[in-house]
Amino acid sequence: MDIPMDPAALMALAEHARGFAHAPYSRFQVGAALLCDDGSVVGGCNVENASYGATICAERVAVGAAVASGRRRFVAVAVAGPAGVALGPCGICRQVLSEFSPDGALRVVTRDAAGAPRVTTLGALLPAAFGPADLR
Ligand code: THU
Repeated sequence: MDIPMDPAALMALAEHARGFAHAPYSRFQVGAALLCDDGSVVGGCNVENASYGATICAERVAVGAAVASGRRRFVAVAVAGPAGVALGPCGICRQVLSEFSPDGALRVVTRDAAGAPRVTTLGALLPAAFGPADLR
């Protein structure tokens, strides 16, 4: 699936962000790299909390950082978990990403258990998403 950046390169940036993870409780470090439509990439990592429910996933940290720096149009997101884990965004992160990709066109780059990048769409991961139209 086409994205205007080598999926492996975007995944490498997610892996870099993973190095900043604050995950002392789960020890499950996750990184995300969000490719914006201006070509910039915003990183995120999971930020855990002693009050476990206050934990924020890497993808949502990346979305928050991007929005807080004036970027809301996203092309792709790569998610890197521990080696050997085929990790996809959790349900809450899919919903948060959907807020900024209502048509589901956002590309989601994951890696399989062997580490090879795989590209899918948010729409495939979250069909029939709840969105603003449902509020009316
Ligand atoms: N986590 C993420 O950062 N992204 C995901 O998509 C899945 C889960 C984090 C949350 C928590 O810090 C740890 O992984 C274990 O659930």
